Amino acid sequence: MFNYIKDENRGFKNLMNGEWIDGISSNLIDVNSPLDNSLLGRVPAMTKEDVDLVMKTAKDAQKKWNSVTISKRAEILYKSAELLLENIDELAEVMMMEIAKDRKSCKSEISRTADFIKFTADTAKNLTGESIPGDSFPGFKNNKISIVKREPIGVVLAISPFNYPINLAASKIAPALMAGNSVVLKPSTQGSLSGLHLARIFQQAGVPSGVLNTITGRSSEIGDYITTHKGINFINFTGSTEVGKRISKITSMVPLLMELGGKDAAIVLEDADLELTANNIIAGAYSYSGQRCTAVKRVLVVDKLADELVKKLKEKIEKITVGNPLEADADVVPLISSKAADFVCELIEDAREKGADLVIGGNREGNLIYPTLFDNVTTDMRLAWEEPFGPVLPIIRVKDMDEAIEIANRSEYGLQSSIFTENIDNAFYVADKLEVGTVQVNNKTERGPDHFPFLGVKSSGMGTQGIRYSIESMSRPKATVINLRER
Ligand code: NAP
Ligand code: G3H
Repeated sequence: MFNYIKDENRGFKNLMNGEWIDGISSNLIDVNSPLDNSLLGRVPAMTKEDVDLVMKTAKDAQKKWNSVTISKRAEILYKSAELLLENIDELAEVMMMEIAKDRKSCKSEISRTADFIKFTADTAKNLTGESIPGDSFPGFKNNKISIVKREPIGVVLAISPFNYPINLAASKIAPALMAGNSVVLKPSTQGSLSGLHLARIFQQAGVPSGVLNTITGRSSEIGDYITTHKGINFINFTGSTEVGKRISKITSMVPLLMELGGKDAAIVLEDADLELTANNIIAGAYSYSGQRCTAVKRVLVVDKLADELVKKLKEKIEKITVGNPLEADADVVPLISSKAADFVCELIEDAREKGADLVIGGNREGNLIYPTLFDNVTTDMRLAWEEPFGPVLPIIRVKDMDEAIEIANRSEYGLQSSIFTENIDNAFYVADKLEVGTVQVNNKTERGPDHFPFLGVKSSGMGTQGIRYSIESMSRPKATVINLRER
């Protein structure tokens, strides 16, 4: 099934108007594995002319797609989910090599995505419109009724990051399609092979020509061009705050849905269940080497419990599996690039120089950074504020929950936070004051289940994802007002 998308020299193609095509120029970008630097494939460096063709195709196809019944659209999505599962082994292999995620996590990402797609189809089938009587507003009689249904927005540009190349692409595509939009997917370059495989799945399931298209290329060459293209009606972006801010600066009158960076805090109060807290912090901070937007990226612990917590975390970190996912189901794996690893090392060095206590880790082999824990991190250190996107966790000691709230909220980010306590009053007190999209009580920060609202505030994003929320974001109300003649 996947032979269509590449040639015998591992030159991959893009999906445009139902065909797998090379770009106009013969320029290709190498995609190498972060595991062994082997060449996995080459993707077209699409040009502005290619982009124009894709946008036109998407615009033309959207009109026809909007007239396809919702139940037919749902059937195609159910088929996509089925095909994802049928091809799970091959897809997991591609993902593992491309983004260095362990095989088990790749498979769970794919099966989660199949569930996401099915749930999206179910939800869209059950969305209803409303009719609003006019006479509930002062001064109006009962002769007006507004009938409100939802309309697609048009062409959705979906830009996905490297870390969940199947899930964070599909979680844009599926709700956009169910809402009646066409989609142009621009996957991250490292992650594009997974993204192109996903596009093939949707195509094979029956998404009509032009309704889903892909663009690969260098963001430095076509990034601004695609986001400001007049053919685009909506941008659904997941990635770094830096790129998100740039997109919001250069675009105009195009609705944006953005999921960006984070610095999620785990706040630990004196009465926390220590074992549960430590287990959650370890899983939250170190799985997939901390390369999750929702990773636990700092711990704010009250002084009284800090020594015990640090001791427990250290014991658990010693047991984390580290290494190459080809050899074992490692939790801590090589980072996506040497640039990413260099950045994490800068943060480690800064913390060391400024006097934080290195509890464990701090060493690097190539792009592999060992799970690292710093205690007594202070607010003058970069690690207190910056998102490492790597397996490095700072412990910041605080005197009480108010100080924890103050430091948590001083961050530019506001994705999620956790609060660990056995006292429900304190949990609500802290939760109410945190400036984030979601607060987890006695659990690590995490996105799922995927029908929950998922959003970031401040520099962590704008708009809300989550299955129903995503469908609603990528559609708009259309009102038809019936004006009855007076009798
Ligand atoms: P990134 O560097 O911002 O890239 C994200 C996507 O944007 C990629 O497809 C990238 O393509 C593209 N891009 C880069 N520059 C662009 C431009 N000027 N115009 C248009 N597109 C452009 O992020 P990443 O390294 O892939 O992912 C890590 C970041 O994403 C972290 O900060 C993480 O917190 C955040 N993230 C957030 C969420 C969330 O839901 N809040 C989820 C996952 C990740 P190229 O690869 O071709 O440059
Ligand atoms: O990287 C960001 C993902 O949306 C995180 O999802 O919390 O399920 O790992 P997750």
